[in-house]
Amino acid sequence: MKERVRTVRAKVFNAPGEALGDEELRLAGVRDDLVRVRLRASGVCGSDLHVTDGDWTAEGPLVLGHEGAGFVEEVGPGVRDVGVGDRVVLSWFAPCRRCRNCARGRAWLCQNTKALENTLPDGTTSFVSFEGVPVPAFMGLGTFAEATVVPESAAVPVGDDLPFSVAALIGCAVTTGVGAVVNTARARPGDSAVVVGCGGVGQAILLGLGLVGADPVIAVDLSDDRLALARELGATHALRGDDPDLGDHIRSITGDGADHAFEAIGRAATIEVLPSLVRRGGQAVIVGMPAEGVTVPLDPFDLADSGKSVLGCNYGSSVPSVDFPRLARLYASGRLPLDRLVGRTTTLDDVDGALEDLRRAAGLRTVIDYGDGS
Ligand SMILES: NC(=O)c1ccc[n+]([C@@H]2O[C@H](COP(=O)([O-])OP(=O)(O)OC[C@H]3O[C@@H](n4cnc5c(N)ncnc54)[C@H](O)[C@@H]3O)[C@@H](O)[C@H]2O)c1
Ligand SMILES: [Zn+2]
Ligand SMILES: [Zn+2]
Repeated sequence: MKERVRTVRAKVFNAPGEALGDEELRLAGVRDDLVRVRLRASGVCGSDLHVTDGDWTAEGPLVLGHEGAGFVEEVGPGVRDVGVGDRVVLSWFAPCRRCRNCARGRAWLCQNTKALENTLPDGTTSFVSFEGVPVPAFMGLGTFAEATVVPESAAVPVGDDLPFSVAALIGCAVTTGVGAVVNTARARPGDSAVVVGCGGVGQAILLGLGLVGADPVIAVDLSDDRLALARELGATHALRGDDPDLGDHIRSITGDGADHAFEAIGRAATIEVLPSLVRRGGQAVIVGMPAEGVTVPLDPFDLADSGKSVLGCNYGSSVPSVDFPRLARLYASGRLPLDRLVGRTTTLDDVDGALEDLRRAAGLRTVIDYGDGS
């Protein structure tokens, strides 16, 4: 086998509105419980766009990308659960496995993770420039790079048969979207649902609703292309988000409002109307992440009087080590056709083009294919 060189090409965010930089970076060694993962595929998610467009404050340089999969190339001496050669999905929320929330089985609410600070658990970074400057990685992953170094709790083995493109999407959109339905909302067969925003995450919500047998399922988007795709992914109805009578249409389809309404955009206007789309006792599930500082008015009388809930959903309320393999099995058994979420395949050179795909709001998730790394 060819000797692995510990320098990688990476796409680096420097400042909002600028094209990503193309850089050669050094990778940290795999000490302690760290593993080095050679990327095989990475999706490009709306959350990456929040960074490049300046919705979320981020300091450059930052290796972007957080929806990835690959195989383990080397493991540190303290690694127990992952081996060299394992096919892994990367979790953008490396749980500490020890804090109160982790101990209670709520890894997505881990209080000790450093992923939100874009570093490894000890505060160092997996990437370093040739001048010796640490370069943080988005959500502690940085999947827009040929390889990365992560704690083993962020690298979950999923078996050798899962296509890398599907595995990459399990790393964010799928776990978030299917988890929003199954874990956060706990939707049941025959429940009615509205999905506001049918991009990568919304499309995964639609597959999750198909898995649990929700009906009717109403897709809402501003893009006719996305609405057509939503129907292919199981929506029984498709409505335009700018329809002034949207609420009335939803009530006439569902009788008295939906059991569940999911917002998968991250816009104040659509989050604000979400509770009005659900019936008495229904739930509004906020999956989309707005720009920092955005607030929305809510009608507390309606929430109390109608017994409605507003639920926040982080990472589909999922535990990566439990939910990633479960999603992979559901795909393998044919119950969850996750390959139908994979869109255009491209290369690392074209990440800016993939971000542009998100802005255009057309098609399925664009996926970077890294080849076999040889
Ligand atoms: N909660 C989580 O853990 C989590 C995880 C991943 C992504 N996210 C967030 O989810 C959001 C969606 O991500 P994505 O990758 O699916 O993005 P995306 O760009 O692929 O999808 C957004 C969709 O919303 C549609 N849209 C925009 N404005 C609309 C409006 N006013 N009415 C109806 N539809 C509208 C767009 O046409 C597009 O189809 C982002 O905010 C992202 O940060 C949250
Ligand atoms: Zn994401
Ligand atoms: Zn924890």
